[in-house]
Amino acid sequence: MSHLFEAIDFVENPIYEQIISDLGSQQFSIIDGFLSLDEVELLRQALIDRHEEDTFKKAAIGNRVNETIEKSIRGDLILWMDETKATPSEMFFFNKINDLVAYLNRTCFMGILQKEFHYAIYPTNTFYKRHIDTFQNDDRRKLSFVCYLNEDGWLPENGGELVLYLNKNGQEVEKVIYPFPGRIVVFESQIIEHEVRPVKTERLSITGWLKTR
Ligand code: OGA
Ligand code: MN
Repeated sequence: MSHLFEAIDFVENPIYEQIISDLGSQQFSIIDGFLSLDEVELLRQALIDRHEEDTFKKAAIGNRVNETIEKSIRGDLILWMDETKATPSEMFFFNKINDLVAYLNRTCFMGILQKEFHYAIYPTNTFYKRHIDTFQNDDRRKLSFVCYLNEDGWLPENGGELVLYLNKNGQEVEKVIYPFPGRIVVFESQIIEHEVRPVKTERLSITGWLKTR
């Protein structure tokens, strides 16, 4: 009987299953086409509109309690997204995230209770040096999530690769990931060191964290 309930109540989602299985086997997952190019276009426009309101700030290092701006470490501009004030495009994005979170909590008991997301603009010649996404005074960040909003036709020579530093049998291995539009990267915030290599053409994204208590 319990099988029947599950079958009625729960629809397996192949994309989410891929994320779960990748995280289990390699602590990161790359999904192309998580957003369609039309959806990327809407969100890129939402980012541009917010930027025209002049609300982006130079990103800091450290958290809101102890932060400093350090251009030698990161040069991106960010704007934290507020779900309670979301435009329809932003709401579409949050709905996708909320759906993913509900699935992760339900199928893997991940205990994700909070989330935080910001837009990011990397102007030409900026970067984010090798780092880890958790703070000394706060380790609630569980999964890092990056979603690229660049225009269709992003080229490898535009730079801005996300590089994950992985450990394979005691050897460090670099996983180089291009910020193609619609692609998302999800990884374990507490484990995976990573960097954004210097950007040659302005690079747009949404970055966020799924957090435990
Ligand atoms: C970050 C980060 C990666 C990326 O914002 O902490 O590492 O590819 N971003 O934008
Ligand atoms: Mn990071």
